Amino acid sequence: MTLRVDGEAVTAEPRPAQCLRTFLREQGRFCVKKGCDTGDCGACTVLVDGTPVHSCIYPAVRAQGRDVTTVAGLAGADAPLHPVQEQFLAAQGFQCGFCTGGMIVTASALTEAQRADLPRALKSNVCRCTGYRSIRDAIEGRQVVEDDVAGASTGRNLPAPAGPEIVTGQAEFTLDHAPAGLLHLTVLRSPHAHARIRWIDTAAALAAPGVQLVLTHEDAPALHFSTGRHSDRLEDPDDTLVLDPVVRFVGQRVAAVVAWSVAEAEAAARLIVVDYEVLPAVFEPGAAMQPGAPQLHAGKDPASSRIADPTANIAGEVHSEIGDLKAGLDAADCVVEHEYSVQRVQHAHLETHAATAWVDDRGRLNVRTSSQVPFLTRDELARLFGLRREQVRVFAARVGGGFGGKQELLVEDLVALAALRLRRPVRVEVTREEQFTAMTTRHPMRVRVTLGASADGVLTALHLQLVSNTGAYGNHSLGVMFHACGESVALYRCANKRVDGFAVYTNQVPAGAFRGYGLSQTIFAIESSIDELAHRLKLDPATVRERNTVRPGDPFVSIEGAAHDVAFGSFGLDECRALVADALERGRAVRAPEDADIRSGLGGVGEARSRSAVGRPVALPSPGPEWLVGEGTALAMLDAGPPGGHHADARIGRLRNGRFRLAVGTAEFGNGTATVHRQIAAEVLGTTADQIDLVPSDTDEVGHDSGAYASTGVVVAGRATLLAATALKELLGAGAGADSGDAGTAGGVDLSADGADRSGEADAEGEVWATGTFSGTPRSVAFNVHGMRVAVHPATGEIRILQSVQAADAGYVMNPAQCRAQVEGGVAQALGAAMSEAVQIDQSGTVTTRSFRTYLLPMIGDVPETEVLFAQTFDELGPLGAKPMSESPFNPVAPALANAVRAATGVRITELPLRRDRVWAALAAAGVPGAVPAKATELADGSAPARSNA
Ligand code: FES
Repeated sequence: MTLRVDGEAVTAEPRPAQCLRTFLREQGRFCVKKGCDTGDCGACTVLVDGTPVHSCIYPAVRAQGRDVTTVAGLAGADAPLHPVQEQFLAAQGFQCGFCTGGMIVTASALTEAQRADLPRALKSNVCRCTGYRSIRDAIEGRQVVEDDVAGASTGRNLPAPAGPEIVTGQAEFTLDHAPAGLLHLTVLRSPHAHARIRWIDTAAALAAPGVQLVLTHEDAPALHFSTGRHSDRLEDPDDTLVLDPVVRFVGQRVAAVVAWSVAEAEAAARLIVVDYEVLPAVFEPGAAMQPGAPQLHAGKDPASSRIADPTANIAGEVHSEIGDLKAGLDAADCVVEHEYSVQRVQHAHLETHAATAWVDDRGRLNVRTSSQVPFLTRDELARLFGLRREQVRVFAARVGGGFGGKQELLVEDLVALAALRLRRPVRVEVTREEQFTAMTTRHPMRVRVTLGASADGVLTALHLQLVSNTGAYGNHSLGVMFHACGESVALYRCANKRVDGFAVYTNQVPAGAFRGYGLSQTIFAIESSIDELAHRLKLDPATVRERNTVRPGDPFVSIEGAAHDVAFGSFGLDECRALVADALERGRAVRAPEDADIRSGLGGVGEARSRSAVGRPVALPSPGPEWLVGEGTALAMLDAGPPGGHHADARIGRLRNGRFRLAVGTAEFGNGTATVHRQIAAEVLGTTADQIDLVPSDTDEVGHDSGAYASTGVVVAGRATLLAATALKELLGAGAGADSGDAGTAGGVDLSADGADRSGEADAEGEVWATGTFSGTPRSVAFNVHGMRVAVHPATGEIRILQSVQAADAGYVMNPAQCRAQVEGGVAQALGAAMSEAVQIDQSGTVTTRSFRTYLLPMIGDVPETEVLFAQTFDELGPLGAKPMSESPFNPVAPALANAVRAATGVRITELPLRRDRVWAALAAAGVPGAVPAKATELADGSAPARSNA
């Protein structure tokens, strides 16, 4: 077959039924990404004779004789960039960049009429990171303005350094390389929720064409570990084997096949015969804790495995009380008690889990992986395979989104095992279906909140009870449970608080780390209950919050007492609250026409605010008289980093050519740290960020980094960068900038008062290097407040978001455009979790949500514009005054939405997501007029439902 790709003639024969995407990638066109296999995400979009197609569902043979254009060839030979690429660069219309090539290709073919209707025109292109605002800006020709802040490197909208590579498809992600002799690994997975493997016959598979190796539990280390990764590996129970003779969920690994191609490996896997002894299974945490329930980890020693109670399927539990809960409830004038249910959702990062492993000439195991935790992965691989840490190198290329899902060791162990056996490079790429059925999710939780208060709304008692479904394995189950009970409860002053939590094993796909790390579930419950308390007391919810939330000068008190290493390095909660209240009061500046497409939230003229990240017009949609309208607000607090320390090293050198080389351990996966770290170093060294070359996430480059999670990229790795740059500046003397002449001499070692190590050295070739180490403590606290104004249609249950505003206490905002984008992306992801997303599991324990087609990710037309406002604070504990802002924007969104729906309809919905059918059913059950054909009836609390003609 002959075709032209980006203007070049290509002659090659596609395999039978091969799709164009795979064909192009095999030709080295790595700019064409794999996000799904079903034509749903658009990451693989190319032009065929000028028409955009999803190349994953376009047969390669149909490209015979045609012109195929990828994002790499879009500009043609005459210009470095296509105008749409320039627009994406100018608007910084990307974060991780994995979707960007496909997005740009689609946008490049839009007509003027299509550009005016982006919700329709881009309905086949998913972005999980940005919330679409910057993409819309790019296509509509708006730009990020790079404020010139008196020569400073921070506080400016500096662009991401990888931008030019991202918009041209040149940025290298995990699988965008092709080592010689590469083998491919595929996994045979369990069809049973609980079974013991009696025997496996691999003979036919081993004899199949192309097969090099078949692995079963008999080939794997007998050492238990956890896929969840933490600095302290003892935080997770050791309940997992690389390959286990007992399977505990549908989709668990049974065997692995390594062959010359994926197709050969998959064909051989189908030849493996497994004899299972099917065991009884349990799918509900409540049932799993009952006596007589099937035990998932029977026989494991609680002491060595750190499983709290294997006989009751309890991975971990927490019970803690401050004051006297009963006395607080007895003293209350009003008690409200509600139970909430928060569903299982998927991270849906567009780049699935993937890794390549090989053994190099020196006998070292190398693993190139899509990971947020390369150092912690290295440490566990060394432990599993009996190697010294120096014998293992783990590194990440650019990571295509993570959201906590890559704070796990989910694929690296298998490719490492295969590479060590074969001494050849082995790759695994998880399919989108496997991502849903066999990778991790958010922990589903049932949360009961009991609040007692005096008549004036002052809390006398707060009781949080939760049951977390950790699925078949306990990775992150304890950390998520403890964190869920942490800041959500600490946000409220109350003399009598208690938490009771259980993390419970069931025969379902394991849950794991997810943006918010447990807080999104409990904040939904507590913030909903605070509103209910206010309604019961006939008080304004804002008043109840004001009377009960922590105040400046308060110590940070968790449920286990005063936290020794957490403090309010600055306190922006009150300012955030005021910003959101003002914004809701102001509304949106211009009323849209009656027939406006409300979901798009586009058009109109905006209002500038100082410190506002609002950069473009918004509109006030106008619902009809049958809509019920209400406003809701919710608060969230988040520690800047996990407890127990989070260690980061940075190393920076001044090179002979005057440039600087900065190595950090943390990975860039769209969170913007690659930009901010350069800004920090430039600020200290008195140079510009473009003089600093960044080398991230490689275990050979720095001593250690606990990983890019818990929003530590800026505050922990950033602090290490600050210390390293400061040490280098001292070594170089006053004139450290790029124009300052020759490198200085070697300096000493400075151990600062907070225990952070700053040291420097001059190497033999005259380059000067310095290192910085930060242990992640003490920690500060960030705040986020979200406000929503919604219209609810009682006859259909449809929710339309009329206004969405989030105020964030991010401390000193080092890059306002990037920080704003983090908030926008977090809000968009949270809206998906609040309104549509759910991983469905049937009664046999099988995940039935297996593609984006049925998962209902927010598309560009589903995400309203969110106004982002920043409190003006300076955090004394953060690097240059900054706080974390990757994780926390997610947490207050769902309760703000639910509170707005409650205000609009009078009905409290306690189960997520707030899908149209669920909302309608709740309104109908409560007798809300319009939801049922019968005449209007009173609501449960005796009040008439709120009504508005907007
Ligand atoms: Fe769009 Fe990451 S930037 S998926």
